[in-house]
Amino acid sequence: MKTIVFTGGSSLLAQSWINKKDPGVNFIIGIHKRQLNEIKHETFEFNYENIKELKSQLYKVKADVVINCIGLTNIEECEENFELAFNTNVTISRNIAKACQSIKIKLVHISTDHLFDGNSAFNHEEKLKVPLNNYAKTKSEGEDTVIKNYPEALIIRTNFFGLGPSYKPSFSDKILNNLEKGKISKLFNDVYYTPVSVETLKSKVYQLLGKKAKGIYNICSNERLTKYEFGLLLAKSFGYSEEFIKPISINEINNLTKRPKDMSLSNHKLSAFLCNSIPSLDEQLKGIKSKKTKKRTVIPYGRQDINKKDIKSVVNILQSDYVTQGPTILRFEKRIADYCGAKYAHACNSATSALHIACLSLGVSKGDLVWTSPISFVASSNCALYCNADVDFVDIDPITYNMSHIALEKKLIEAKLKGRLPKVVIPVHLSGQSCEMDKIHALSKIYNFKIIEDASHSIGSSYKGKPVGNCEYSDIAVFSFHPVKIITTCEGGMCLTNDSELSKLLARYRSHGITRQASEMSKTPDGPWYYEQLNLGLNYRMNDVQAALGLSQMDRLNDFVEKRRKIAKRYDELLVNSIVQIPKQHPDTNSSWHLYIIRLKKNSNLSHRQLFESFRSAGVQVNIHYIPIYRQPYYKRLGFSEKGFDESEKYYKEAISIPIFPELSLEEQKKVVDLIEQPVGFQNLF
Ligand SMILES: Cc1ncc(COP(=O)(O)O)c(C=O)c1O
Repeated sequence: MKTIVFTGGSSLLAQSWINKKDPGVNFIIGIHKRQLNEIKHETFEFNYENIKELKSQLYKVKADVVINCIGLTNIEECEENFELAFNTNVTISRNIAKACQSIKIKLVHISTDHLFDGNSAFNHEEKLKVPLNNYAKTKSEGEDTVIKNYPEALIIRTNFFGLGPSYKPSFSDKILNNLEKGKISKLFNDVYYTPVSVETLKSKVYQLLGKKAKGIYNICSNERLTKYEFGLLLAKSFGYSEEFIKPISINEINNLTKRPKDMSLSNHKLSAFLCNSIPSLDEQLKGIKSKKTKKRTVIPYGRQDINKKDIKSVVNILQSDYVTQGPTILRFEKRIADYCGAKYAHACNSATSALHIACLSLGVSKGDLVWTSPISFVASSNCALYCNADVDFVDIDPITYNMSHIALEKKLIEAKLKGRLPKVVIPVHLSGQSCEMDKIHALSKIYNFKIIEDASHSIGSSYKGKPVGNCEYSDIAVFSFHPVKIITTCEGGMCLTNDSELSKLLARYRSHGITRQASEMSKTPDGPWYYEQLNLGLNYRMNDVQAALGLSQMDRLNDFVEKRRKIAKRYDELLVNSIVQIPKQHPDTNSSWHLYIIRLKKNSNLSHRQLFESFRSAGVQVNIHYIPIYRQPYYKRLGFSEKGFDESEKYYKEAISIPIFPELSLEEQKKVVDLIEQPVGFQNLF
């Protein structure tokens, strides 16, 4: 087993290099100032300023090879801060060379292709260096000092591409990220180079080490091309449209530090020494493609987006004193309350439990009536049944698919005549689009009912310019943090209210009906240990681990919503003249797009089932949100039928939720759209 130490372990090259484990190689990642987010390998904090100490550190870790990736590579920064550039690119390189030389550890020093005046192509190793800027000057001096202090060292001149870590996307990562988002990349069409993939670079370095090579070697591709041409190649080999790659001349950029227009290197020396050649750029790109596209074989309709920062915040709490009933819950609750502009927020272990305690807090009990929308998840009505109340449904609006305020008013008039008005109405903001809350709220004042907003789908949405969840038009609002929702705590929910009495009740029902507040107790506390159970509550608490995830996800909420809105807009544009009706939005609303629901148009040759099956057979996990609740066998046994729900019935026979989630790629979205335009199997019917 050989031990390779990377100095500059957080650099793009080191991180791309160690991405894949190499058999027979143990990597040690030299860290200095930057904390690595994800440490896959052993790390060591080296002192590059002190040669003696560095020597003993390298000895201690039993290094066989040091690969020096330390470098200040930002050309403008080098120009502004020569001292820093010199220290990083020259002094540290010299110290590493001296330390390696004195204990005879093989050194691979990573240099650059930036060392020439740019007036000639395919620069070979013996060519006179003509540095044009501080970066080139210091890199050139870095090479010289390494050779002078350690003539056995191997110096690699290169310009590589590959997949970088999330905190340091590579040039190719940036182009690919733009392509995926449908964003334009402007690339120089007059700057030439010979880029090589990290995989190829790595394999050539290993071969050179195996043959005990020393001195300078260029590791580069055979193809000399412009940065613009490289972008086109990248787009082509990843199957993206080349229209997002645009040419720009380096001369168009003002105040750019002088740099070579041709950095291409020759690999003759390398190929002759190793007696083999470099694979074509096409082949190298295929290599990174197979790594990048951990392609989903199945595209879900929704999925969570949990990144390293989220994971780190969860791990921090797992290592802390409180994993439940600790301060993180309070922080999460405050964060959501502040975000929404509500006074109080109480976290629960699901939206289902949040809806239950919302009903309990509003006093829903046997003999009471609760109304909701039939086009929702069963939790929206089950919450009332848990309280032994009766449930009924209000038909939906044919445009927004939310509870129709017109149908609600009609039903209220009839209910008044019958003498049985609802105690609570639960409007559901389907897919993230708010119901017409002003209308429902106005009706609540006339007919004297309370309102619980089932806002499970809609954190991040707004209504009349204000965040959903602010409870301006309701008594309580409830969010869900199930993984397919906008943010997740794995399972989880939240009740929000502006009413201090309701807030106390929600807190109490969530936690066994117990209070520890003296002001709420029936008598003076027996002592500091004292608590009282005042109601029959439940244990519906969220824990601090979930809250930590929720807090971290809240940092990303705006980004999630922005991405979802972009995806929805793209669907809108692509599907506007198709066989499906795109979801219409009420002008008062701005949805966070938990779901994107299409409806098959009446005149389509296709049946709803055919379209659904066509998606599923192509691996697109579309869904129906929802089977009307009254159609469920349990509800049928309570006496419900389809009668009186004409709009919900029509909706059920036409609606399909197609994939929408922040990481849905442009390519995946195109696949979904293509399936609508040409469903699998359907074309064979002609
Ligand atoms: C409208 C609606 N209400 C309530 C719930 C229940 O949420 P949870 O899974 O967090 O209990 C869901 C879940 O899908 C839902 O879609």
